[in-house]
Amino acid sequence: MLKVGIDIGGTKIAGGVVDDDGGVLEKLRVDTPVDTAELADAVADMARHFAESHDIAAVGVAAAGFIDKSRSVVIHAPNIAWRNEPLRENLESRIGRPVAIENDANAAGWGEYRFGAGRGVGDMVMLTLGTGVGGAIVTAGELAHGGHGIAAELGHTRFTREGRPCGCGQHGCLEQYASGRALQREANDIADHGGIGAALAQVRAEKGEIPGPAISRLILADDPGAVEALRRVATALGEACGGFQAVLDPEVFVIGGGVAQLGETLLEPVRLAYETALPGFGDRPIAEFAIAQLGNDAGLIGVADLAGRRL
Ligand code: BGC
Ligand code: NA
Ligand code: ZN
Repeated sequence: MLKVGIDIGGTKIAGGVVDDDGGVLEKLRVDTPVDTAELADAVADMARHFAESHDIAAVGVAAAGFIDKSRSVVIHAPNIAWRNEPLRENLESRIGRPVAIENDANAAGWGEYRFGAGRGVGDMVMLTLGTGVGGAIVTAGELAHGGHGIAAELGHTRFTREGRPCGCGQHGCLEQYASGRALQREANDIADHGGIGAALAQVRAEKGEIPGPAISRLILADDPGAVEALRRVATALGEACGGFQAVLDPEVFVIGGGVAQLGETLLEPVRLAYETALPGFGDRPIAEFAIAQLGNDAGLIGVADLAGRRL
């Protein structure tokens, strides 16, 4: 059976037609409109487009926000202007058929668990590094939803006291230190302070905000400023994972999002920081770290699979 999966991220909406093996038959990508009504229209247009040329059994939509227990309302979204947004109703009335809603990182985690880096594992945690830091928890083969539907908001655990303000209304959240956006912030900061940031400063002079891909290129070219920016972000992520291990004890942490394209260059400093923060390190079993295998499609594949199961 074929399903549509649509993943609404902070900057892009990615959609696809997905088969039962997690294969993507057709794909579309558009920018995320800032206006929430336009956003719903864009998602509905995408779903209708796919349904014109394929026999679609179910539609799943992944959204970057806190979704209520009935999987209908986005209660809060740190990086999108949704507050108690009846997303499911909005989409169902536009699309004219039932829509399954899931948190974007939960969807990505489910996709990786079913078809990617978490296959064959019982307990895994996924972290997605993009505009925000998303989390998914699979325990004994099930996605954890918590008592109100909002479990696994791992990006909004407090990483430091008196830290940077966060879109969730708090401050010092992991998201402000370990996201793709945080990597950009660190790179810009290093550029502005001179010293090791010479190469970064040059891009900054040309482009203003240093684009993510430029930072990745400089990291892979071993530029000391860019490598330092990555070290800061990887350290924050790894230390946080030491704490998550204490709570959840996963067998594997799967890391996804744009920054994860750095592969082992990212994972090496993450593992190091994880080990420095892991209670009982040296005596206890530790988790593996893996890069998401489904890349940017993890969310749309995962939410399509979930939509099929909820039929
Ligand atoms: C949101 C999460 C989302 C994550 C990744 C966070 O800021 O709170 O709900 O999963 O960003 O998009
Ligand atoms: Na989540
Ligand atoms: Zn936060």
